[in-house]
Amino acid sequence: MQNQANATSETKPMNLLHSKPTFVQLTKSPELSPTLPSWVYRDPDVLDLERECVFGRNWVFVAHVSEIAAGQSFHGDINGEPLVLSRDHDGNLRAACSNPASRDPAMRVETLAGLVFVNRDTQATSLAVQAPGLEASIRGFIPDADALVKCHETVHEVASNWKVLVENSLECYHCEPCHPGFSTDVDMAHYRSVSDGIVTIHTSQRLHTAAKAEDDLVDSDLVDKFMYWYVWPSTEIDATPGEQPQLSIYTRKALGPDRHQLIGRYYRLPGDTLSSAERQSFDEDATLLEDIAICEAVQRGLASRGYSQGRFIVDAERSHISEHSVHHFQCMVSDALDLR
Ligand SMILES: [Fe+2]
Repeated sequence: MQNQANATSETKPMNLLHSKPTFVQLTKSPELSPTLPSWVYRDPDVLDLERECVFGRNWVFVAHVSEIAAGQSFHGDINGEPLVLSRDHDGNLRAACSNPASRDPAMRVETLAGLVFVNRDTQATSLAVQAPGLEASIRGFIPDADALVKCHETVHEVASNWKVLVENSLECYHCEPCHPGFSTDVDMAHYRSVSDGIVTIHTSQRLHTAAKAEDDLVDSDLVDKFMYWYVWPSTEIDATPGEQPQLSIYTRKALGPDRHQLIGRYYRLPGDTLSSAERQSFDEDATLLEDIAICEAVQRGLASRGYSQGRFIVDAERSHISEHSVHHFQCMVSDALDLR
């Protein structure tokens, strides 16, 4: 399988994986497909290849437009590899590798609903083309997404491969048993996820709790709608609409094959600062901490010598307990790494 969205003229690095254990390839049907083999989550060679073929050839969120004023620079990174975003006095954004020894310092940069994405692959297909409808979908929740400013940032270190936490976010099979708070707030019966190319959209309805009934924004249909976007390979977007809109953006930074950081960046309207209680709720986000515990247990399971490949749990309705979006993600990993 080839990842058509990210076709590139660059030569892939020497195949680091040819001597790895044999495995059964994924198939197009999630009902019939095996999962990726466990060594893909543990092998340092795989991470080296991912730095080139996944993080080096795809669109990754780096900053919000408000963080790069005209005439100024912003230091960011793609999965830990440093880069500089700069904006000239005409408002044009440029991205470049901040390593002066790099042979290929130029990068693509594209802005979508106030979010700045970069791509090291100068031949990459435009983000707007790869993710049609994403900007309109986010702006449906927050029309003035460009006007927000950063109000907080969190960093959680996770003892798992970065892909384990992505996969955790792509299925809600675990939500009812593992997230009592989340599954009380969000209607599991109507939870759905749909993957199309580089974007997976999760949708449901927020349930009317007593606290929400007191909210003076309930006259807006969107306030009750739950929507969450995943953008391959490592960006997640959560938009809260209303009079106090908030964008929450999550990215990953791999620290090793079995360790990574989850970075959360939160944006609100200028002056809408976080209370100390809100700040603490971001730092100690119960759902996130529950997910981290699950992922660290999964990583320990992946290290078992008795396990190599499993199967996906899928149902015909593609309901909240179905892992079809995890299968979609694993197929993109398999394509990007040319696993054969
Ligand atoms: Fe979760």
